[in-house]
Amino acid sequence: MRYFFIIYLLLAVLVVSIGGFRGDKFKNTPIRIFQDMDEQDRINPQQASDFFSDGLGARQPVEETVPQGLEPASIADASTQSFANDNSYYHNGMYDDQVLGTGLPIKELELTEENLPAFINRGKIVFNANCSGCHGISGNGKGVVASYGVPGVINLITSELPDGGKYDVIVNGRGNMSAFGYQIDLKDRWAIIAYLQALQYSRKAPLDLVKDAYEAGSAK
Ligand code: HEC
Repeated sequence: MRYFFIIYLLLAVLVVSIGGFRGDKFKNTPIRIFQDMDEQDRINPQQASDFFSDGLGARQPVEETVPQGLEPASIADASTQSFANDNSYYHNGMYDDQVLGTGLPIKELELTEENLPAFINRGKIVFNANCSGCHGISGNGKGVVASYGVPGVINLITSELPDGGKYDVIVNGRGNMSAFGYQIDLKDRWAIIAYLQALQYSRKAPLDLVKDAYEAGSAK
């Protein structure tokens, strides 16, 4: 019986300490065992900083900063439907809403031999910005996040998922991978697919095809 009371008392203290003071206001600075985010090192406006060699706390924006409200060119030229969904392969990577397709929807993307390299290059930029952290710059699934232990990041070079399936994973996410459909527009999603095709192809390219580039130092 004694133990029952001791446990009862401990439980009561625990419940009151966790739930009892919620919503109360305190005048004094709270004691924080785990720091909240409002408690952090920062530089106030006009404050000096010895972190930078010029001693200034206020910095210029870093190179290639995108000003708020600027529409990147790719979004500006994409149709106004660029985030819309319908049942076409172009919009959701599937035929009849269930059969995964493969290949690029060349007609809708208005791809030609001339604009294809720029399209693939656009894919590289979007891939490196959004995907390489997990999937790695070369797509081999060994990005920096994976090296910190996020399990199950897939090697996109050996992936046999059809293009439409990859497109679907970009839009809707899967498992530990979140959905990118809200932040990467239609054209850019397909640009990533085109770049993934190029990455896969580059792994299988015959040596003499890449020898010149390799010797010139452009292939790293
Ligand atoms: C937070 C880490 C993370 C990011 C960022 C990320 N992925 Fe993934 N991705 C994963 C994980 C984990 C899986 C495995 C999901 C599962 O099935 O559990 C995956 C799976 C995939 C697959 C499925 C491959 C297959 O063979 O089944 C594709 C395709 C893919 N990712 C493409 C991308 C693209 C393109 C981007 C950028 C737009 C991206 N991922 C960004 C973690 C990530």
